[in-house]
This record gives sequence, C-alpha cells and structure tokens, in this order.
Amino acid sequence: MTDQELLLLAEQARENAYAPYSRFLVGAALLAADGRVFLGANVENASFGATNCAERSAIFAAVSAGVRDFVAIAICGAKQGGRGTICTPCGICRQVLSEFCNSKLRVLLGNSEEYREYTLAELLPHSFGDEVKA
Ligand code: THU
Repeated sequence: MTDQELLLLAEQARENAYAPYSRFLVGAALLAADGRVFLGANVENASFGATNCAERSAIFAAVSAGVRDFVAIAICGAKQGGRGTICTPCGICRQVLSEFCNSKLRVLLGNSEEYREYTLAELLPHSFGDEVKA
C-alpha cells in the first residue's frame, strides 16, 4: 500500500463524516502491520462532548476487530465543500494513538496529491503512558 493509496482511503472515509454542527469533515485510514486498513470518520452529536474524531473511530474499529499493531495513519480533514487539507490530530486522538502505536507510527496529513508526514513521537513528545501500565 502506497502513501497515496492510504491517503485516498482517508479521503473516501471522510465522505461518511457526520458533522452537522462544525461542518468540518474528517476521514482517517489506519494501516495495520498485517496490511489491513481500518477506516474512520468523525461522528458528531447534539451533545457536543459525545463527538468522536475520525482517528479514534478508526483505531476503535481496529482494536474492536482484534488488531493492535499499526504502521501508519492517514488523516484528511477540511470544511464541508473543501478538499482535504492539513488537519493535525487533536490531543485526545494523539493520546489514544499512543496507547496502541509505537512512537515511530507514520502520520500522513493531507490528501492523495499533497501531504506532510510526521511520526507520532513528533506530534506527542514526552507522552504519558508507560508509567501507569502494569
Ligand atoms: N476532528 C477530527 O475528527 N479529528 C481531529 O483530529 C480534529 C477534529 C473533528 C471533531 C469534530 O467533529 C470536528 O472535527 C471539529 O472539531
């Protein structure tokens, strides 16, 4: 799977975003070590705090399917009507990613024509987690 293919899947996942409140649509495509891809979109709620981001939708789908080993995630977000642009994962999603992904996880932001690449370590330095795991 190429980076462009993963980004294209994130763009396609974005089509299922439910964001009537912010009108900011996000899609994510999470590539597992076994080659499987898990998709997610943001799902908003009238009680705003119940909203789920695209990245967490994807990772919860993967973990629910028994998959916990990941190599990359592509994220594509933009206002409704716009093309996917650089949408960096929110702090909660960075923390959730760090629960299941090592710091080398590749994070691709953008769309299939233009993107930037980071590692999870770059986006979430000095992360919390190991201290509390038994
Ligand atoms: N959102 C995501 O899905 N991922 C992010 O990393 C940033 C924010 C969603 C949540 C909400 O539905 C909308 O974008 C505006 O914050």
